[in-house]
Amino acid sequence: MANIDWSSLGFCYMQTKSFIRYTYKDGAWGEGELLQDPYIPIHIAATALHYGQAAFEGLKAFSQPNGDIGVFRLDENAKRLANTASRVMMAEVPEEMFREAVLKVVEDNKEFVPPAETGGSLYIRPLLYGSGPCIGVQPSEEYTFIVLVMPVGDYYKGGLQPVRATIIDGYDRAAPNGVGHVKVAGNYAASLEPSALAKKAGCPINLYLDAKENKYIDEFGTSNFIAITKDGTYVTPKSTSILPSITNKSLMELASFKGITVEQRAIDIAEIKDFTEIAACGTAVVITPVNELLWKGCVKKIGFDGSCGPILQDLYNHVKAIQSGTTEDVFGWNTLVKE
Ligand code: PLP
Ligand code: COI
Repeated sequence: MANIDWSSLGFCYMQTKSFIRYTYKDGAWGEGELLQDPYIPIHIAATALHYGQAAFEGLKAFSQPNGDIGVFRLDENAKRLANTASRVMMAEVPEEMFREAVLKVVEDNKEFVPPAETGGSLYIRPLLYGSGPCIGVQPSEEYTFIVLVMPVGDYYKGGLQPVRATIIDGYDRAAPNGVGHVKVAGNYAASLEPSALAKKAGCPINLYLDAKENKYIDEFGTSNFIAITKDGTYVTPKSTSILPSITNKSLMELASFKGITVEQRAIDIAEIKDFTEIAACGTAVVITPVNELLWKGCVKKIGFDGSCGPILQDLYNHVKAIQSGTTEDVFGWNTLVKE
């Protein structure tokens, strides 16, 4: 076991034992190699550096009660990366190669998977980028696929502690026919300035409205928007410019399984006052309750006196229990890492 103070983990880069790298050249992917040195040479004219031909994914591995390690929904991340790759004309990573890469690197770094009782996980970050030289704007002929891992705790300190969100006027996350539905690196560069403004206003998280009408809720900077209505319905935006969250998909499947009505529809920002529970959901943030929304100088209070509401709390507990292997994985979401 690595010598780590598991209780102090946040969501920060930490060097672990190894990462895995594959290279695509002459129309084919090569073999994966486990490497230790986190610095890699890159061509000065790589398309990733100049034109943002780059994408990433995020998924997690959890210690199971019997000592195994389970990776959550890796097939879904593989599909989403393939979809992103296609949108920005990168070589697709075959699902089987994605799976092999994730399982190999987790296995090689198993001493960095936080013990179950710490509540932490091993964050897995697949990265795909154009590594071949091009100075005209066109797709690279060479690609690099890397998977790195690091132990993490809470993305926002305090776990299920609610946070205050804000809408920063004058910034859109994604255009209706743009690239908001895929996980390209540039989306996150574009989010840095509004996110810094949100933090300056005392809000760790910012919410984006749709770019066309500035009326409907899209999503948060690094997570989807979910809410519970007064009649107990689970609602989440339907929009062409949001990232299809695998956490949200899992929560929706679980909510339906529990008999909760699930609606994916356009959500007018004016509806916010009618929700009894609101949260951000995603791999990194899991479920982070939002209890206040600051917008146009006003603070709107939401939900249950600063705690996570009962429906989202129950869904959170259930997803966490599946991930950590303490309840039956009825949907077959975990892939066990075998030696
Ligand atoms: N929305 C955005 C913009 C994200 O970056 C993420 C994180 O991946 C999510 C939503 C949540 O997606 P997932 O649940 O698959 O992690
Ligand atoms: C994740 O939740 O895995 C993400 O990719 C969000 C991230 C930008 C930290």
